[in-house]
Amino acid sequence: MSPLSVVLLGCIIAGVVGDDPPGLKARITPMGLEFASKRARSEILKMAKYHSVPDQHGDYGMWIGTVHYRAYRLYISEISIISASIQPEKGGVWVSLNKARIAVHGSWEDEFNWLPFGDTGSLDVILNRVYLRLFINIGYDGMGKPTVRLSTSSCAFRVVYISLSLKGKGKYNWIYRKMKESLEEMIRKKLYAQVCPQLVREVNIKAAEILKNIKVVRPITKYAEIDLGLTSQPEFGSSVTTYHKGTVYETAHHQEPPFNVSVLPGDPDESNMAVFWITDYAINSACYVLHNTGSFMYILTKDNIPAGVNLNLNTSGFEMKFLIPELSKLYPKRLMQIYMHTSGPPKVKFGVSNVSVAMEGYISVSVVEPNRSLTSVFTLGATANISARLGSYMTNVTWDKVSISFDVKLLKSAISDLKIERLRQKLKLALKMFIMPKIKQMGNAGIPIPSLPLQGYALSNLNISHGQNFLKIGTDMYHIDWLSDIFLKGRSQPIPTFSKLFY
Ligand SMILES: *[C@@H]1O[C@H](CO)[C@@H](O)[C@H](O)[C@H]1NC(C)=O
Ligand SMILES: *[C@@H]1O[C@H](CO)[C@@H](O)[C@H](O)[C@H]1NC(C)=O
Ligand SMILES: *[C@@H]1O[C@H](CO)[C@@H](O)[C@H](O)[C@H]1NC(C)=O
Ligand SMILES: *[C@@H]1O[C@H](CO)[C@@H](O)[C@H](O)[C@H]1NC(C)=O
Ligand SMILES: *[C@@H]1O[C@H](CO)[C@@H](O)[C@H](O)[C@H]1NC(C)=O
Ligand SMILES: *[C@@H]1O[C@H](CO)[C@@H](O)[C@H](O)[C@H]1NC(C)=O
Ligand SMILES: *[C@@H]1O[C@H](CO)[C@@H](O)[C@H](O)[C@H]1NC(C)=O
Repeated sequence: MSPLSVVLLGCIIAGVVGDDPPGLKARITPMGLEFASKRARSEILKMAKYHSVPDQHGDYGMWIGTVHYRAYRLYISEISIISASIQPEKGGVWVSLNKARIAVHGSWEDEFNWLPFGDTGSLDVILNRVYLRLFINIGYDGMGKPTVRLSTSSCAFRVVYISLSLKGKGKYNWIYRKMKESLEEMIRKKLYAQVCPQLVREVNIKAAEILKNIKVVRPITKYAEIDLGLTSQPEFGSSVTTYHKGTVYETAHHQEPPFNVSVLPGDPDESNMAVFWITDYAINSACYVLHNTGSFMYILTKDNIPAGVNLNLNTSGFEMKFLIPELSKLYPKRLMQIYMHTSGPPKVKFGVSNVSVAMEGYISVSVVEPNRSLTSVFTLGATANISARLGSYMTNVTWDKVSISFDVKLLKSAISDLKIERLRQKLKLALKMFIMPKIKQMGNAGIPIPSLPLQGYALSNLNISHGQNFLKIGTDMYHIDWLSDIFLKGRSQPIPTFSKLFY
């Protein structure tokens, strides 16, 4: 297929599937781009130091004849980069490295056509005030994946000073000292001829290949996966904003969930390094699939009572004597097992001031007989409406303004005189007296957000806020051994203007 037909095909596919409304939206703000460029700079410095440089050889014409030279065992002995930056502009990002200094050390040898001037020795090249600036086009392949492209015309490389020093063993050093300037000029020409074409190859072939192979559909359970593919071109303003499908599917067959994506409003928020918008559509598609694949099922036994919950599952314990005295009488001193599962997908709704969840399911209570077999005692049908306001403290998700209402009805019972109305009232009392205070107390401390899968990085300054049909999460990030930088310099520094530095 020719490149043109690939592009045409891409446009056609983009036209067909590109109108999916996004279930998720993500933004990297100027603060985030600055963080990324600082990290990129330290990674480059770390990787480049002592990195080997390919051998160089060639011919050099002089008044006394042609010199065949060879430079080998070359490596970067020193490197510094004053600043690096990533700045978005329509269609992509400018990446700049400013005022780099690179020293290369190695060995050299040469021979003349016929004169006995051949020599060997050591070599040092210092490139000073090196500037690199390139514009990487970032697009969308119409099938969920990002694309990158770098054209030679949007790559600029400049090195202001080059200084070469050759130390030879023989007595002909004067020859090379004489040639110094023209050798430096030759190095400059080689660099100018090779750096951008090499980068173009790196981006257009290697990086493009990596992007082509990234998996935008990621498993979340054994039977469910989330499609994080792009639904449209990324947007480039002062930030980079991307739109993602956000739908959770059954792994075995991708079927669209039976509800529509709610539209996300425009929002210029740049108050954290990264900002994410999660629609209730995305959450509901997860609830739909997790319910259908049987993931909303829990068997409560004495061994898996959540930490911090004080519940005694012994029929002769205080809790059960209070809640279900019939059970204590009929099956005394037994342990219980409570089997819970949803009877329909929970429905989540994000509003401007809270999140609400409507759930329905079954609760089956059994007792464990002395011979360890289970005897089913009764089954309840339960519905619950839960609403709460989510927030954040440091890196914890917190909640307050919790309201829980529930109802139970008796579906099946082995206890003939189980009084469901009394059980309902007592459960409500237990909720008010024991459960709500615990939920409130837990909400104040919150629960930590999951740590990043990226080793060496952590999140900070979490900001969670509500919106109509979405939840917004803003977060900063830091590098673990970068803490001192944050404390010393504060988190926001202006991005330098490249044009000024570059030209
Ligand atoms: C989704 O939107 C389409 C078109 O706007 C409409 O026909 C359909 O009834 C909607 N579905 C639901 C579940 O709201
Ligand atoms: C249940 O509690 C009673 C008394 O509180 C105790 O004698 C009995 O051993 C307990 N049963 C189990 C299975 O732990
Ligand atoms: C949740 O927020 C909505 C407005 O978005 C409000 O009408 C409702 O009363 C709130 N619910 C609770 C339990 O606070
Ligand atoms: C276990 O004990 C229960 C109640 O005592 C009894 O009904 C059941 O048959 C016993 N099961 C086995 C496998 O012995
Ligand atoms: C939950 O909310 C729905 C819809 O608002 C309502 O019909 C139902 O009665 C509520 N159930 C409970 C147990 O509060
Ligand atoms: C975050 O939550 C955990 C668990 O509730 C708690 O131990 C911790 O103190 C909380 N962190 C902060 C900063 O409140
Ligand atoms: C958190 O986000 C909200 C909503 O965007 C914003 O109003 C608020 O200023 C943010 N707080 C901080 C500390 O950035």
